Amino acid sequence: MQKGLFITFEGADGCGKTTQIKLVKDYLEKSGYEVVLTREPGAKGLGEKIREILLNYDGIVSDRCESFLFLADRAQNIDTIVNPAVEKGKIVLCDRHIDSTVAYQGYGRGLDLKRINKLNLLATDGRVPDLTIVFDIDVETSMQRVGKEKDRMESAGIEFHNRVRNGYLEIAKNEPERVKVVDGREGIEKVFENVKDLINKTLQK
Ligand code: TYD
Repeated sequence: MQKGLFITFEGADGCGKTTQIKLVKDYLEKSGYEVVLTREPGAKGLGEKIREILLNYDGIVSDRCESFLFLADRAQNIDTIVNPAVEKGKIVLCDRHIDSTVAYQGYGRGLDLKRINKLNLLATDGRVPDLTIVFDIDVETSMQRVGKEKDRMESAGIEFHNRVRNGYLEIAKNEPERVKVVDGREGIEKVFENVKDLINKTLQK
């Protein structure tokens, strides 16, 4: 049986990854692959409830509590959606995953990176993406694209979002084999050409 793949998409709010994931899904399905789409936070089922709290709860949420909620959602996504599909030979495309926690809670909120990595490992039970694509855009473009209606995370401020962006670039520098950076400011078509290139290389491995 053909081996499944786990591909994750990362980047700042408004970086365009959700559009690209849909293009990738169509492209892979047309090439005959079985594709499963999922996201964090908010995978189908319990994840949707956790997402609701994370993005809309308007009381105090401590940084550690926020991290555990993202991690709880991740564990559920891995156990109930990602692993079963990859084991059946499918290609799983996931909108945000471990690197969001490193970038947002680690670099952004300032929580200890080593601890976050350990907790991520607990949440994923050792599953590592075969490929991670980071869509890089500057914070001004990101905030413009998000617009005025901001959720709890998007309202965290320019400095926070600059730390998140730099966090992603650091992650890519530290793990160049797994994590590839694509310039998210180019047009949808051009970005997709670059994405397709990365996906095809991973398929050929
Ligand atoms: P979402 O609406 O999914 O953002 P986007 O469409 O840009 O992906 O909201 C997810 C928000 O949660 C986003 O601001 C990033 C944040 N987040 C974290 O802070 N840590 C995490 O571990 C994850 C998965 C997401």
